[in-house]
Amino acid sequence: MNHQNEIMIKEDTTDENGLNTMSDQENNKKGLGEKWPEPTVRVQSLAESNLATVPDRYIKPPSERPDQTIIINHQPQTAAINIPVVDLNSLFSGNEDERERMSEACREFGFFQVINHGVRPELMEAAREAWRSFFNLPVEAKEVYSNSPSTYEGYGSRLGVEKGAILDWNDYYFLHYLPLVLKDLNKWPSIPSNIREVLDEYGEELVKLGERLTRVLSSNLGLKEEQLKEAFGGEDVGACMRVNYYPKCPRPELALGLSPHSDPGGLTILLPDDKVVGLQVRYGDTWITVNSHPHAFIVNLGDQIQILSNSIYKSSEHRVIVNSQKERVSLAFFYNPKSDIPIQPLQQLVTSTNPPLYPPMSFDEYRLFIRTQGPRGKSYVESHISPLDN
Ligand code: OGA
Ligand code: NI
Repeated sequence: MNHQNEIMIKEDTTDENGLNTMSDQENNKKGLGEKWPEPTVRVQSLAESNLATVPDRYIKPPSERPDQTIIINHQPQTAAINIPVVDLNSLFSGNEDERERMSEACREFGFFQVINHGVRPELMEAAREAWRSFFNLPVEAKEVYSNSPSTYEGYGSRLGVEKGAILDWNDYYFLHYLPLVLKDLNKWPSIPSNIREVLDEYGEELVKLGERLTRVLSSNLGLKEEQLKEAFGGEDVGACMRVNYYPKCPRPELALGLSPHSDPGGLTILLPDDKVVGLQVRYGDTWITVNSHPHAFIVNLGDQIQILSNSIYKSSEHRVIVNSQKERVSLAFFYNPKSDIPIQPLQQLVTSTNPPLYPPMSFDEYRLFIRTQGPRGKSYVESHISPLDN
């Protein structure tokens, strides 16, 4: 570990093996203790209890509720705009149109989908089906993996530790792939019987895809191919996954599966449900429902890319709507910077007319915002703008 790179970190909470040594006491000070502020309620249990409506805790204020027409029709919105599809195979074979499409999508939406990305469709299907089986287990079988705010690892039902917060209509599972010291198969589900094996291979393939995508992002930004990965910590990048389970919701017009947010990390590679839409991307004042291409991954840029690119690329704001007819499962894979190195605008992207917009901050520190306060649109990256330059 290169300690010279770490002098800007306010608090080094990892030992030389990269293990988190932050004590429970320190975590508690940040509101990230071993306990959630209220007893955990599984959304799946609520959905299975045949309620006529949703409990108040899940009812969004009127201005935050989803557009009713989308819900009533149970249909993807027929908007003229959809998120661009990039053929990665063709891009790597030198097709400049594909490269340009990706570059434009990064500037405009922070969102695109990739096809011919090199991950076998059978593996994608196997991963999705393994998770579907897991979430279809009785709630009791999943409680053994119950997570806590201090690490988020395991089976969870909320993001943020604010007492009395309005919650989202989803249960999830969070696990680590990288760094290897955080990868602990005992914290992964063991049912269905093939799940660990499938997830292991899935993670390996997605790390490779994350690397290839960062190379393209780098050269599209006019940097050398390896540069973003180097800024992410080189061989010490982080990778983790959040699997979302959105049960049927009796009043989908009052609730959200996941409130508006931008992803705090680097790149997100999402495997959406192949049968049920739900993800929406903010585009100006409207929300575009994403219709994914068969076998595509949806890629979106996180806040760390916005920071490193000095806002040339924007992280995307997105949310998830639910419906009363079908449950939905999605796998969000996060390719992240090493968690304890300072992340700040890359020098090549800073000029006298484009001064650095963000002060350095480690990803560990940065993600505390969302881990303590929950999803809040793009407010974290917007409030992180450097006071020196304003
Ligand atoms: C996420 C996310 C979208 C989805 O997990 O951060 O935005 O479609 N998921 O579930
Ligand atoms: Ni997200």
